[in-house]
Amino acid sequence: METQAIPLDISRYARTIEVSKRIRWDIDHDVIRGRSFDLDHTFLPDGLSLADELAFLSPAEHRFLSQVQGRTYANMFGVVERFIGAKMLEVSRDHWLGDQTALEALVRFTDEELKHQELFRRIELLVGADMPAGYRFDVSANDVAAFVLGKCTWAVLALTCHIELFSQAHYRASIDAAPDLSPLFKDVFLFHWKEESQHAIIDELEWQREDARLASEAERDAAVDDLIALVGGVDGILQAQAQADATYFLTTIGMAGHSERAEQMNATVLKAYRWQYIVSGTLEPRFQTLLGRLVSSAQMARIQAALAPLSYAVPARAEAMNAMRATVH
Ligand SMILES: [Fe+2]
Ligand SMILES: [Fe+2]
Repeated sequence: METQAIPLDISRYARTIEVSKRIRWDIDHDVIRGRSFDLDHTFLPDGLSLADELAFLSPAEHRFLSQVQGRTYANMFGVVERFIGAKMLEVSRDHWLGDQTALEALVRFTDEELKHQELFRRIELLVGADMPAGYRFDVSANDVAAFVLGKCTWAVLALTCHIELFSQAHYRASIDAAPDLSPLFKDVFLFHWKEESQHAIIDELEWQREDARLASEAERDAAVDDLIALVGGVDGILQAQAQADATYFLTTIGMAGHSERAEQMNATVLKAYRWQYIVSGTLEPRFQTLLGRLVSSAQMARIQAALAPLSYAVPARAEAMNAMRATVH
């Protein structure tokens, strides 16, 4: 058997098991409860959808854009959870004949991601039954998983940690506080957030454990290359889905012929997706701290250079607030 490069923090694994047991929920009994989506409600709030940056939208169009993006938001989680679950099963191998608490924590994590994928499939069916025809989500969970799992474990755990931290940040900062959200949409991400909190802790533990196994700086350099390639792959998916969602939106509301507005729509949806799935996570203090501890300053500079073209993708409101703070100080 392999030796552990760093001692396991068993109490942290144990704590995730304890919380996971306490908050465990059921898709039908706790989350859906026989409900369907009411299209009079907003799905994804402005802080994530950036729909408030398109001043020409009527209130009904604004709401519809939040629903298109909310539908994609649920589908995107369903996609990433495929590779996250598979990677967790794979790294659990190190614990099979080792610490059984760590093993149980990873098994519960994987079980929860399987349940979440089922939840997001159910949500897609419910939303699809009521929304106008023509929506497309052509991202294959298995194709994405084949690409992601082709990269080294360090990079996959880094991306996973980033995703699970931003999913919590989105709930706390935007979804929880937003007024007039669809109660069902809000509940889906409330219950999801409850289980994701444990996942992020396990990601941090497993990512650090993997980091300690890297034999040389050259190996870590290669791992950083993989992480940069993964971010590029995510951005490719976002570009295609932003285009698909903007086209569906414009066609449905009859705005497709208005080239100036169509252009603004395409740009804003892509900006929103880059904000949701890449930039908001990179700004999370927990992610920055851990990444900063694991990589050298030269490696961090390479990551920052790769992210620089995406860094424009922050809500205009947040930028205005930052500018205000800068003026005050
Ligand atoms: Fe999940
Ligand atoms: Fe998760």
